[in-house]
Amino acid sequence: MDNEKFFAAKKALEFIEEGMTVGLGSGTTANEFIALLGQKCASGFKISGCIPTSYDSEGMAVRAGLSKYLCIPAQISKLDVCVDGADYIGKGFVLKGGGAALTREKVLAYNAEKFIVIAGESKLAIPQPDIAIECIRFSAPFIMRELKKKGFESKIRTGTGKIGPIVSDNGNFIMDAKIPVKKPKDMETELNALPGALENGIFTRIGMVIIGGKDGAKETPVR
Ligand code: 5RP
Repeated sequence: MDNEKFFAAKKALEFIEEGMTVGLGSGTTANEFIALLGQKCASGFKISGCIPTSYDSEGMAVRAGLSKYLCIPAQISKLDVCVDGADYIGKGFVLKGGGAALTREKVLAYNAEKFIVIAGESKLAIPQPDIAIECIRFSAPFIMRELKKKGFESKIRTGTGKIGPIVSDNGNFIMDAKIPVKKPKDMETELNALPGALENGIFTRIGMVIIGGKDGAKETPVR
């Protein structure tokens, strides 16, 4: 299982060129990539900067020895590439947000020259998970009601280590909505049109998907 993530991350590293600015995704697969990028930079390879998509990936970048490259969006003129994991690989889309970092993840993914999704092959064989929606806390009951009217159940995400709703890195609630994705682009737009919704976990702008297996990884068409 972890091999899958490692091999996917290792393949993604082949697309990182010297001097690039790199968006760092969040989650266990993205962490494999951050660790490998750190090792590469420790051996003399230089990037221009890297921007993490969460406090978690920021911490991972520090532990990987990338502190001197960490920067904020205002410090770069363009983002060359963003490498991130996914919860589900669909036809022409991926679902993200399992780690509640979807908004910053989408900001970097959609503003990068190239967005590379990395995942283990086990992600190809799972049922579609709920769609994560980050919303301002005030709007949560309205969004849930609106989704219910359209026939969809949703719930505010709770977690471990805290009683009640989890709060994202941006200070918002995360909602998980049971919606089968049929027209991903339309649905991505429609969910963001709900007042108070900030972003959702449907990602439709994908440059490349790399799937890792037991012995290696390969670039896979966005199904
Ligand atoms: C976080 C994400 C992650 O990329 C996604 O949950 C995949 O995580 P992992 O690589 O640990 O399976 O979208 O918001």
